[in-house]
Amino acid sequence: MKRLTVPRIRQRKGGEPLVMLTAYTVRMAQLLDPHCDMLLVGDSLAQVIYGLPHTVGVTMDMMSLHGAAVVRGSYHAAVIVDMPFGSYEGSPQQAFDNAARLLKETGAAAVKLEGGKVLAPTIEFLTQRGIPVMGHVGLTPQAVNILGGYGVRGKSEEEARSIVDDALAVAQAGAFSIVIEGVLESIAVEITNKVACPTIGIGASAQCDGQVLVTDDMLGMFERVPKFVKRYQDMASIVSGAVKEYADQVRSRSFPTEDQIYAG
Ligand code: KIV
Ligand code: NA
Repeated sequence: MKRLTVPRIRQRKGGEPLVMLTAYTVRMAQLLDPHCDMLLVGDSLAQVIYGLPHTVGVTMDMMSLHGAAVVRGSYHAAVIVDMPFGSYEGSPQQAFDNAARLLKETGAAAVKLEGGKVLAPTIEFLTQRGIPVMGHVGLTPQAVNILGGYGVRGKSEEEARSIVDDALAVAQAGAFSIVIEGVLESIAVEITNKVACPTIGIGASAQCDGQVLVTDDMLGMFERVPKFVKRYQDMASIVSGAVKEYADQVRSRSFPTEDQIYAG
């Protein structure tokens, strides 16, 4: 099966909703790939894989290694790699150098970066030089030290306006798609109606052109998840149950049995 391309994703505006999930490892990428249009190697790997308090600590090396693993584990979905905090905000040139490195080292189709109006010249710079960019507006977790937390964005009229303006600037700069995270629904709908590229919602609206979730959240790997996460499985209980059974059997010498040993 041919991999979905950025132009084909762009053409899905207003059409069949785009399905995106995060992936960080090869086996999970293989399992998600048949069902997804896009796999996002999110910098949420900070919390999911590395136990970091937030995404600010993520490095280029982490994104590159996990990005390459996800590309190796997928055949159908377009792979998008998050640019880590500090790798793109300094200047368009810095962003280009790091985005080019990520595409070269991983084989991914595109990068994603957080930000609005201020980052628009950078998005334009990358796009004009062969690097497709997915935008990310609203709740932007890399700004946690400015925002002070992960609360819903756009509650004041002024903040709502600036999020819409951010999305318009990002779209105008050439982003092929925009993630809208953690905003009042009316803002997500307004952006979706106004921009020409597909919007991907997370804590946004069913009217977005697609949806994304952190895979480990929707699988129920974590106790605490944001309101916008729907848990489709309780993986934590499944894993705990299996591991408890194994531990009990080792302690009672009921594992291994003759099925698992080489009788000699
Ligand atoms: O890092 C991430 O997982 C993300 C998605 C939640 C959009 O940016
Ligand atoms: Na991210």
